[in-house]
Amino acid sequence: MELRRLGNSGLKVSVLSMGAMTFGESHTFMKGLTSEDDEARRVFDRAIDLGMNLVDTANIYGDGTSEFLTGQWVKEKRDRVLVATKCRFPFGMGSGKPVGPYDQGLSRIHIMRACEESLRRLGTTHIDLYQVHMQDGSVPIDETLRALDDLVTQGKVRYIGCSNFTGYRLTESLWSAEKHRTQAFVSVQLQWSLIVRSAEREVLPACRRFGVGTMIWSPLARGFLSGKYKRSEAAPEGSRLAVWKDSMKSLDQQQNWAILETVDGLARKHETTSSAIALAWLLSKPETSTIVVGARTVAQLEDNAKALSVKLSAEDVAELDTVSKPDWGYPYDFIGMREPW
Ligand SMILES: NC(=O)c1ccc[n+]([C@@H]2O[C@H](COP(=O)([O-])OP(=O)(O)OC[C@H]3O[C@@H](n4cnc5c(N)ncnc54)[C@H](OP(=O)(O)O)[C@@H]3O)[C@@H](O)[C@H]2O)c1
Repeated sequence: MELRRLGNSGLKVSVLSMGAMTFGESHTFMKGLTSEDDEARRVFDRAIDLGMNLVDTANIYGDGTSEFLTGQWVKEKRDRVLVATKCRFPFGMGSGKPVGPYDQGLSRIHIMRACEESLRRLGTTHIDLYQVHMQDGSVPIDETLRALDDLVTQGKVRYIGCSNFTGYRLTESLWSAEKHRTQAFVSVQLQWSLIVRSAEREVLPACRRFGVGTMIWSPLARGFLSGKYKRSEAAPEGSRLAVWKDSMKSLDQQQNWAILETVDGLARKHETTSSAIALAWLLSKPETSTIVVGARTVAQLEDNAKALSVKLSAEDVAELDTVSKPDWGYPYDFIGMREPW
């Protein structure tokens, strides 16, 4: 599988990487939407066979079981597989459980504690890419970076990344790292798909400008672009969007169905799957370092991996760009009439 450099770092990541959010039974936001452990193991093994060299998990996925299973399975392949995990959110998110000030966030105290716990669950001496899961406006970015820098110095973490950052906060973090000579984020993990293109306003231009790598999450818009959802039909029973009714409601818009129909049409033209077309569109973008693929079953994984053999023409990409074009708003429209922003 093609490897791409993660930003300006020395990390080389496969263009498709394995998302582990469906590994391990969940009692919180992924309740009922994860794989049986045996199937998750097969998904993991198949992903590695396909050439993926990076697995992305988080402390809170499966309330810790995702990290635990990832750690077990990666053991014998540790020299070939990079492990990325995240901290920031509290355990039991959404369960109503009380959350103390150091049970979450990007303070030095929480980061140090969360990292030790992740290392223990993963059963490893080091994390290859340690990501902060979302910006934290209540903690100075200098404190967060200094804590992450210490983890690198201690040998517990190799590289640091962020996720769900605004453009201004990412830029501030790069200034801070330069000013205080700490480690800088090598990557941003962000939501990007034909359905959700808002990262193209600020975060992706910042990545281009400053050489920050990207890891794309929910590349199929939670499965919406997989081809199994149809305009006039109920969501298939047990699927994520049948369970997450609010997400389905917000996706139920004229433009999204038009995007899906264009994707389905190109899938027929290229004799491939809808998900392969949706992922191939992301692969055609130079800002994409790696797409974090979500697959609950081996069949889904194989469907999605077909993206690697799709060759979208410039006209195909333009058709997808046009049908999915959001209302960029000011100042992007104003600038965009004259030059790329
Ligand atoms: N940093 C963050 O804040 C953040 C947030 C979310 C995710 N992530 C990362 O990104 C990864 C991927 O995110 P995601 O799971 O939301 O990605 P996604 O590709 O948008 O959705 C994946 C889901 O869509 C369905 N699906 C996928 N391929 C399919 C196929 N070929 N045919 C039919 N259905 C298919 C499956 O759900 P069902 O079978 O249940 O319908 C699958 O679990 C996660 O594992 C995680 O590592 C990060």
